[in-house]
Amino acid sequence: MVSKLAVFCSKGEYGFNTKKYNRVYKESIENPGKYWGELAEKELFWFKKWDSVYEKKGFKCRWFEGGKTNITFNCLDRHLADGGDKIAYIWTNEQGEERKITYKELFEKVCKTSLLFKKLGVRKGDIVTVYMPQIIEQVISILACARIGAIHSVVYAGFSYQALSTRMTSADSRYLITADFTYRRGKKVDLLEVAREAAKESKTAVKKIVLVRESTTKLQENEISLEKETSSLNGFIDAQVMDAEDPLFILYTSGTTGKPKGIVHTVGGYSLYAHITTKYTFDVRKDDVYWCTADNGWITGHSYIIYGPLSNHMTSILYEGAPDYPTPETWWKIIEKYGATIFYTSPTAIRMLMSYGDKYPKGHNLTTLRLIGSVGEPLNSSAWLWYHKIIGQGKCSIVDTWWQTETGGHMITTLPGLDQKPGYAGLPYFGIVAKVVDRNGKEKKNGEKGNLIINGSWPSVLRDCWHDKKCFEGYYQKIKDCYFTGDIAVKDNDGYIRILGRSDDVIQVAGHGISSAEIESVVTSHKSVVEAAAIGVPDAIKGYKIIVYAVLVKSVQSSEDLEKEIIGYVGKVYGKHGRPERVEFVDKLPKTRSGKIMRRVLKAEEEKKNPGDISTLEN
Ligand code: PRX
Repeated sequence: MVSKLAVFCSKGEYGFNTKKYNRVYKESIENPGKYWGELAEKELFWFKKWDSVYEKKGFKCRWFEGGKTNITFNCLDRHLADGGDKIAYIWTNEQGEERKITYKELFEKVCKTSLLFKKLGVRKGDIVTVYMPQIIEQVISILACARIGAIHSVVYAGFSYQALSTRMTSADSRYLITADFTYRRGKKVDLLEVAREAAKESKTAVKKIVLVRESTTKLQENEISLEKETSSLNGFIDAQVMDAEDPLFILYTSGTTGKPKGIVHTVGGYSLYAHITTKYTFDVRKDDVYWCTADNGWITGHSYIIYGPLSNHMTSILYEGAPDYPTPETWWKIIEKYGATIFYTSPTAIRMLMSYGDKYPKGHNLTTLRLIGSVGEPLNSSAWLWYHKIIGQGKCSIVDTWWQTETGGHMITTLPGLDQKPGYAGLPYFGIVAKVVDRNGKEKKNGEKGNLIINGSWPSVLRDCWHDKKCFEGYYQKIKDCYFTGDIAVKDNDGYIRILGRSDDVIQVAGHGISSAEIESVVTSHKSVVEAAAIGVPDAIKGYKIIVYAVLVKSVQSSEDLEKEIIGYVGKVYGKHGRPERVEFVDKLPKTRSGKIMRRVLKAEEEKKNPGDISTLEN
């Protein structure tokens, strides 16, 4: 039985309906070795087959042990014989500029860049930081790392130089690839300056900054131009033969402490999971024009702009710019111009575009769309319904995909062809055992809220946190040997899961996880602040916004100017996406007797709700 809210959508290419989903799901859970082994064999190229599909010791696991592959072989080489002329990316930006690149051209450029990296001395296992805007060269740089076995660490280009240098130091990264600028809402933003500052600040001796994008910039001593250096390099370079469990990349994400966590993903399992979830969730077809609006600085870009789509030989739109700049119809124009068939974006973008009214999307031909998706935060029912009716014209399946940087790929979603429910991410993906439990790991009854955990392993589960064993183990300590997601969820009688938000101190602002502790440490580094608490409160568009409570040094008076200064300071030190909406100046922060800030008391105050148990409150 499906709920009354179910909306019936078009059947997917792979013919998943509830009956088939249930059958395949059951098989995948009962015999994961067979399920994943058969898929890995059928869907990917391996230089050498694995000895065992997976091995699990406690919470630690290894996938496709003994297998040898390279993700770029699966993303590029194997498509060349009869698909080299297919467009891999159509790049466009807010200036309306456009570039297209075929699989063959992309392959050639990746080879050249790989050769350059080798010439610079980059070796297998070295960490290369990529701090770049959403341009084709960013994808090329990332793939070039993977081709030669270097580990890429992509840092979102909105981060400040301090955030960039912290991540470079933590990863011990000695190479940095950047561009001289990006555009943000019509303004040229200088990225090279940030990169130079970060390199200076980094505790690791940075060997080379490689610069891309056409540039009149004068290069400094340890900098080279990608364009110039690769122009004389010719030829092919074999993809490095990688062990399935070799690291492919690290990606920093916010934790509950102020320290960002370097999530490690490995070659074999990640290749398979990114490939197969792209294929099934987006119901990939030969002539699709696919557009994921995420930034490659985050995991969504890694899995669903770069690796998944390329592995599936898809044509993707790559866009550098904001959703509503220069006008609120910019995105609808792009869908119409390129005839996009799949569109994958965030609830924040959906709500923002919804707030401009229906006339903008209605003024464009969106009939090419077949499937629309959402990721990053809960897609509330009203936004779901608008998205379905206005953008999906009542005919498109909606895939609301729940997952995390740590999971590497989609974990819960409603596959196209299955009944969909507004506000629900849906059903667990094949091989995924998702449970809603209490603090002791006991399963909650349907309809009751609880912690979302994942039992068992899957190919693209994080393998480690870079140089931080304790952080990695932390995922499995709350409920013994189960992966603790940190999200609160509820399951209904059909097994559909609704995600309600975070249970910890990570604030999802416009889908970006931002740690309260990290913002607090930035705010308290301001000369006028002694102590601070950062909380997330609901926002109609962004899901959550950050409010900071700050205690000032005795000699300083609070003022509106000081509030503005602190907000600007966070933008400068952390990155604009972490700026608080407001700073409240207070004499004291609510604390427990052991001195821990009780953020929930502040949250309750902001939301005019009951703060719950405050027996441990000191003041
Ligand atoms: O709280 C969940 C939310 O985003 C968190 C993961 O953030 P991050 O690692 O940055 O990855 C974002 C892109 C996958 C989750 O713990 N989240 C992600 N997708 C959804 C979601 N919340 C509700 N519904 C979703 N579809």
